[in-house]
Amino acid sequence: MTRKDLVRLQRWFSHHVAGYHTNEPGYDFVIRLKEQHTKRVCRIIKMLCRKLDLTEQEIILAETMALLHDIGRFKQYEIYGTFNDRSSQNHATIGLHLISEYNLLSAYTIDEKNLITKAIAFHNVGKLPEDEDGKTLFYMRLLRDADKLDILEIMTDYYRSREKQAKAALQIGLPDDSTCSTKVLNALQEHRIAEFEDLETLCDLKLFHISWVYDLNFIPSFQTVQHKGYIDRIEKTLPFDQKIIDSVNDARNHVIELLRVSGKAPISR
Ligand SMILES: [Fe+2]
Repeated sequence: MTRKDLVRLQRWFSHHVAGYHTNEPGYDFVIRLKEQHTKRVCRIIKMLCRKLDLTEQEIILAETMALLHDIGRFKQYEIYGTFNDRSSQNHATIGLHLISEYNLLSAYTIDEKNLITKAIAFHNVGKLPEDEDGKTLFYMRLLRDADKLDILEIMTDYYRSREKQAKAALQIGLPDDSTCSTKVLNALQEHRIAEFEDLETLCDLKLFHISWVYDLNFIPSFQTVQHKGYIDRIEKTLPFDQKIIDSVNDARNHVIELLRVSGKAPISR
């Protein structure tokens, strides 16, 4: 595959997404949210690739994964009117069907196709499989980090402004309750990512996003979290509660400590 193949896919993507616009402002706003998310994930993954010293071929591969990782979102919204996988269908699965239906990866080798489809299939699962080879896991982790970094950017802004139009799409139906569920708090106290299935309130969703620091993989990703101040900014929108404060402090210290240790070594893959 070459950069030209990727450019062809980018054109296909724009054309495909244009087909989901309806001229109904509320609906088109939501479609644009996902379109812009994809474009930013492409930029973020490129930034990560460069910081990790990947080759041009490896960067094209990673950008392809980013471009197609949420391709199922548009059809998901068209059919179900929601981005909530729990109440509709796994959007990664919808995306993989589209990739095969439109034969999008015909210019890619079997090895590249496998890497792309596996990275997409696992970009939204709780835990990565343990029986994959190092190269596959590397790309899975890279896509997950890039996706998370952009969602953190969107959600951090949203928690501050709570833009009305974005509400239903971003808050995935969770009530504006300021209490946090025990299971979600436990996950943070145990320094692990919270389970999506356990989210019951908006407060849980905020803690869920903070818990992502326990599932990031690369030093440049931690640098971005630190540089953008995501944890501090989300914390400002959380209720004042000692358990929450302690959990958020732990997450912040996790990032600081990783960066401190990594500061002594070069950024590595
Ligand atoms: Fe996704």
